[in-house]
Amino acid sequence: MPLLSLISVVTALRAAGCVFAEDEAELILATAPTPDEAAAMVDRRVAGLPLELVLGWAEFAGLRITVEPGVFVPRRRTEHLVEQALATAPDARVVVDLCCGSGAVGAALAASLDGVELHAADIDPAAVRCARRNLASYGGHAHRGDLFAALPDHLRGRVDILAANVPYVPTGEVPLLPSEARDHEPLVALDGGTDGLDVLRRVAAGAPDWLAPGGCLLVETSRRQAPHALDAFRRSGLTARTAVSEERHAHVVIGTRG
Ligand SMILES: C[S@@+](CC[C@H](N)C(=O)[O-])C[C@H]1O[C@@H](n2cnc3c(N)ncnc32)[C@H](O)[C@@H]1O
Repeated sequence: MPLLSLISVVTALRAAGCVFAEDEAELILATAPTPDEAAAMVDRRVAGLPLELVLGWAEFAGLRITVEPGVFVPRRRTEHLVEQALATAPDARVVVDLCCGSGAVGAALAASLDGVELHAADIDPAAVRCARRNLASYGGHAHRGDLFAALPDHLRGRVDILAANVPYVPTGEVPLLPSEARDHEPLVALDGGTDGLDVLRRVAAGAPDWLAPGGCLLVETSRRQAPHALDAFRRSGLTARTAVSEERHAHVVIGTRG
């Protein structure tokens, strides 16, 4: 196998339609342990595999998060949820990352909060495996199960930050997602039901039992969904507000237990 040059990789990626061919080429060449592996990675990217799955990692909140096939790739806009959590509960001691996927949100929170007790949970076994790897260096625990049913009972009433980046794409809009999501991420990570809010409503309803007094729940939504999410939070007794980042196209709904 000939040594790959940067220029040949850029040319191959550009021909395959990769818009950021130079950046991607540099990342692939810097990540691949051998020239053979670099060539295989270029082939996988040219065949349409998302860059993060080719590399095996995604950048999130300054961290390198391991991502595995079949697991949702953390989006940079979700860094807004992390920043809002840290601003709302800067002294948090107990953190739960519900619907954790790779565990990116939990890892980013633990990296900024010294010595937190960190739990993450997901219904998908592939996500739980991946989160376990990403949370190991923070002493985090990854549990498998349906929303709160996955959590150990001793967390009831003790959670300072409950971060839940739930699936929130309306069922009818899933076919309109880019191929990276539609073809490479599991439906359970994307489909939030008819209006996209099915899982969010269940999280809002269950959260007060698990939050500590003053503890907060944070979810990401679309602009259109945010008022309905606020209603759901208020119906469950939380004090609720939204925090918008126009720059990141991110809407976060924040509920606090009084
Ligand atoms: C949009 S992804 C977010 C993943 C991760 N929090 C992130 O931001 O990268 C939603 C995640 O919710 C999980 N999920 C969907 N329904 C669930 C349920 N009922 N209980 C637990 N996890 C669920 C999916 O498996 C998926 O990993």
